[in-house]
Amino acid sequence: MRGTLAAIDKPVNPAGRGSARRTACRSAFGGLVLGVFTLWACQKSAPSGSSAAVGAGGSSAQDEYRRPAVLVAALGLSQGQTVAEVGAGGGYLTLHLARAVGPQGRVVATDVDAGALAALRKRAHELPQVETRLVLPEQSGLEGGRYDLILLAEVAHLVPQPEKYLGALFASLAPHGRVIVSGRLDRRERLAQAATAARLQLVEVHVDLPGQFVTELRPLPGRRE
Ligand SMILES: C[S@@+](CC[C@H](N)C(=O)[O-])C[C@H]1O[C@@H](n2cnc3c(N)ncnc32)[C@H](O)[C@@H]1O
Repeated sequence: MRGTLAAIDKPVNPAGRGSARRTACRSAFGGLVLGVFTLWACQKSAPSGSSAAVGAGGSSAQDEYRRPAVLVAALGLSQGQTVAEVGAGGGYLTLHLARAVGPQGRVVATDVDAGALAALRKRAHELPQVETRLVLPEQSGLEGGRYDLILLAEVAHLVPQPEKYLGALFASLAPHGRVIVSGRLDRRERLAQAATAARLQLVEVHVDLPGQFVTELRPLPGRRE
């Protein structure tokens, strides 16, 4: 139902009861490791010298560098649109996206980290247009033909086999939908290589975000999905 914040999480341990406790311990440990890695990866997304923790709190140092309102304004979203935010983390951008599409819109916030999504749900509890979705690293988990915008902010460098991953996103777009990637400038070249391999081109979105790029991915002429 649209009135509640939906959460699609992984099924619980399908193994027998005997191994359930061991599996729970292993997955708790795995979750801890993933959480620490995520924090590390997100910290690395901020410029050196910044205390920013991406997706965590929205400190003034983080806001100064990332300018989330400026980024989201540049996306040109309208009320009622449907957005996917891949690798949403703790929801640093999600709240801005949710306001941009309004209560009639939808933001599907995905992540591989259940802990990050739990934090996001807390932050977005007054925004029923936000849905969280736990996904596997190599699959977007987005359904076909639905999204007006798919945003990957500070995450494209983390997906395995980016050329395959990025190319597959286009099947999830609604007609006239867009895939937008943003990140640190020094990661743009690697993205360009993956895009070329996927027969995509980078079309810059002009926005004043020093040290970061914002680009739309578009299929090269003749590309087939
Ligand atoms: C650097 S943080 C960025 C968070 C948020 N997008 C932002 O801009 O503040 C990267 C996030 O991507 C998630 N992530 C890493 N690999 C992913 C994948 N393959 N699919 C979805 N999320 C992923 C991490 O768990 C983490 O929450």
